[in-house]
Amino acid sequence: MTFDLIIAGGTFPDGTRADIGITGAKITAVAPHLDAEAGQRIDATGCLVAPPFVDAHFHMDATLSYGQPRINASGTLLEGIALWGELKPQLTHDAVVERALAYCDWAVAMGLLAIRSHVDICDDRLLAVDALLDVKKRVAPYLDLQLVAFPQDGYLRSPTAAANLARALDRGVDIVGGIPHFERTMEEGRRSVELLVRLAADRGLAVDMHCDETDDPLSRHIETLAAETRRHGLQGRVAGSHLTSMHSMDNYYVSKLLPLIAEAGVAAIANPLINITLQGRHDTYPKRRGLTRVRELLDAGVTVGFGQDCVLDPWYALGTADMLDVAFMGLHVAPMTSPDDMRRCFDMVTSEPAKIMGLQGYGLEPGCVASLVVLEAGDKIEAIRLRATRLVVVSKGRVVARTPPRRTALGLSHRPMSVDRRFPTA
Ligand code: FE2
Repeated sequence: MTFDLIIAGGTFPDGTRADIGITGAKITAVAPHLDAEAGQRIDATGCLVAPPFVDAHFHMDATLSYGQPRINASGTLLEGIALWGELKPQLTHDAVVERALAYCDWAVAMGLLAIRSHVDICDDRLLAVDALLDVKKRVAPYLDLQLVAFPQDGYLRSPTAAANLARALDRGVDIVGGIPHFERTMEEGRRSVELLVRLAADRGLAVDMHCDETDDPLSRHIETLAAETRRHGLQGRVAGSHLTSMHSMDNYYVSKLLPLIAEAGVAAIANPLINITLQGRHDTYPKRRGLTRVRELLDAGVTVGFGQDCVLDPWYALGTADMLDVAFMGLHVAPMTSPDDMRRCFDMVTSEPAKIMGLQGYGLEPGCVASLVVLEAGDKIEAIRLRATRLVVVSKGRVVARTPPRRTALGLSHRPMSVDRRFPTA
């Protein structure tokens, strides 16, 4: 048997070691030792070999626009939305495409090979929709991009949002979005959820809604989202993004809400980098953490992913497309610090968002798509601790990125190092 590529001797996320044989765009063999011919052989001894990173929540139309036309002075979600509103009329197709493609390059270098991006449909030109549909086609050979029709200015609040959202879906946007906490009243928020879930059911589409991204404990649209998901039989096809109000909710109410979310098969996507900075802005002290109840959702059996949300845009001034940064922040804020919990944080930027996105052939078994990342780390926890270098990134059978090791240069080794402690004396 011959292979196009063999990744030899790497450690899998579950701690086992094996060689991976790749033919074309598929993994065709996994065995302790593949003694076979290969077009290319990569030695991954001592390295973690994982399926690619997955980001189930991003905004690719806004990325890399930081400072245009000005910086978010208050640091709040609402000023970010207003700022994006100022930038929108100035957008051009080419500028959106160029920024998005640049971000995809960053993503590939970081081993991030699947992204679900929301795209704002409230610009009547649908300029960002067309730009990101174009980008989706262009990156398809190496990066899976899903698009969510996102009514940033409110599905009912913005007079043309309903028509625009339908037009975006007609043009090929994959998923129905929403933002019930930004509608003018609780009642309109609830109604927007009902309308949008029904629309998704009628069109046979999935739903991913910005939901309750607020510190207001009475923002309870996740309850409606879960109930409507059950009503329309969309279990397993709906995600609630952010869900930060759950942090501030009454504990008794949450004890009733969690089983409803779990029974509805609604997934949760927390965005720790963004929400730790956006939320709690009206608090004095103590300040609330801007993260939903990750541990409690996991314990209730809900699928939870960590998303990046924003990189260099009106809402967030930092970011590098590194999902290990996201896992690192999520681990701290949740907090999830036992060894098992830290490993789960790695899963929440790999296998769990892959489930949320419904990625076919994700994994390292024979028959899976040959997409993987070789990390300069021995295991999942070390990968998070070091935000480990992505030494080699393989997408659909092809090596698409390489980064030189940095272990010695940065002194990050867990192994004994040679250190000269003879300091000069006076
Ligand atoms: Fe978002």
